[in-house]
Amino acid sequence: MQQTPWWRGAVIYQVYPRSLMDSNNDGIGDIPGIISKLDYIASLGVDAIWISPFFKSPMKDFGYDIADYRAIDPIFGSLDDFDELIVQAHARNIKIIIDQVLNHTSDQHAWFEESRQSKDNPKSDWYVWAEANPDGTPPNNWLSIFGGSAWEWEPRRCQYYLHNFLKTQPDLNYHCTELREQILQEVEFWLKRGVDGLRLDAIIFCFHDQQLRSNPAKPVEERKGRGFREDNPYAFQRHIHDTCQPENIGFLESLRSLMNRYPGTVTLGEIASEDSLKTMAEYTAGNTRLHMTYSFELLVDNLSARYIRETVETLEENLTDGWPCWAFGNHDVVRVMSRWNGKDQSPAKAKLLNELLFSLRGSVCSYQGEELGLIEAEIEQHQLQDPYGITFWPRFKGRDGCRTPMPWSAKNINSGFSQGTTWLPVAPTHLPLAVDIQEADKKSVLNAFRKFLAWRKTQPALLWGDIKFLDAPENVLMFVRSYQGQSLLAAFNLSADTTTVDISGDFSVIPLEKAGDTAVKINSKQILLAGYASAFALID
Ligand code: BGC
Repeated sequence: MQQTPWWRGAVIYQVYPRSLMDSNNDGIGDIPGIISKLDYIASLGVDAIWISPFFKSPMKDFGYDIADYRAIDPIFGSLDDFDELIVQAHARNIKIIIDQVLNHTSDQHAWFEESRQSKDNPKSDWYVWAEANPDGTPPNNWLSIFGGSAWEWEPRRCQYYLHNFLKTQPDLNYHCTELREQILQEVEFWLKRGVDGLRLDAIIFCFHDQQLRSNPAKPVEERKGRGFREDNPYAFQRHIHDTCQPENIGFLESLRSLMNRYPGTVTLGEIASEDSLKTMAEYTAGNTRLHMTYSFELLVDNLSARYIRETVETLEENLTDGWPCWAFGNHDVVRVMSRWNGKDQSPAKAKLLNELLFSLRGSVCSYQGEELGLIEAEIEQHQLQDPYGITFWPRFKGRDGCRTPMPWSAKNINSGFSQGTTWLPVAPTHLPLAVDIQEADKKSVLNAFRKFLAWRKTQPALLWGDIKFLDAPENVLMFVRSYQGQSLLAAFNLSADTTTVDISGDFSVIPLEKAGDTAVKINSKQILLAGYASAFALID
């Protein structure tokens, strides 16, 4: 029998390297800092880490603007440090997933510096260049997610270039065969170094409509979701010509052929399309494209039981042989503890959110700090770093509030993250949630996280099983995970009030003691769930 690949049902801990641990006291986290925290990460019981970009970069978008795909930025360390990270992580049975930003580079990448010089240099076609309209305006209405037109004028070529993000992040031209081949070589550089997987940034943007057709407008009532704010004009368009072009699939297939030459490696694509659930299914279909994708569909403000059920069910209906990956948070969105029912920031809610995420069918990304139940940090306007927040202030404060340094110890300077002035402030509200305080408390969110993941490893149905939702009261999410004859019932109370779920007549259950939890009573007729409690039972 073929072994289940490691990444199916894996828990992937997302490390934001600037903020995990600073080893040289320059106020910015680094790779040696990550190495020093590998024992902590291993103690969580996760299977892999996904590290946000650490490549050479002018840091205009904090590493998502790469100036050299093959170099480590000196802020983060050296290639030797990275090799050591792989060795040390593997010694602890932790896989390494790196972030590949293949859609665009920094404007300081040597390719762009050459491309922008003239219309006939060897790299002239490596970026997306277009003539102005006769009246001098940009070729079409495409917008940058970070504000303004997606087109920037280049006087040397008397042409515009495309940037879906900052103007310092020019889009690569995937219609150019030579560029595509070169990109695969950049990726292979890291596969040869022994990485276990790639998180693929903004992968739906790679190709653009070669006719440069303008996007149609989107009615007001449809401007929600997709990870883009309704008050960002980017949400006013249907992005049918600047994202998800049919040629994308062919590129994903070539990337997959490359990955197949490095057995055991995995791809995890970031999807934020007009219909993300459909794109997630399409990009993972047939075992010849991506292995997994994640979307922003559960990174929303209101995670009601009904919404989660509808989202997961819709994806399951669309999926053929693809495998999902779910997340409630990452470095781009407000921390889930403040975003979802933000008034309640109780440890019980944090535990519930982690347990629910770890019980959905698929793999899971858990963002650093979610194991502590961290809330969004308050950032003053003068402290802002994120260009997205600087442009859209004050309606949108940007992404700094979820990127502040990890609180390691409540009493140490900068919570033990660094002795130097930190790039973003350590949030005072994080100190009572610091790792050292939670280590000492058997009932902390951190210890519940560890216990739950240890228990989850003993439940094949939770790791690999199918999922089928059951009707339940409004605030309760209930489903059955089934695998090779074992069926496991899971129920989650998403409210602070005690709730009773009637299950009589349907089946009989054997309650499962997952983590010494007493907030739950189960018999064959009813499940009594205290506020934010979860319950698990084997179906007889
Ligand atoms: C990343 C962001 C980044 C953007 C541009 C995203 O989807 O997650 O952090 O700013 O791509 O690279």
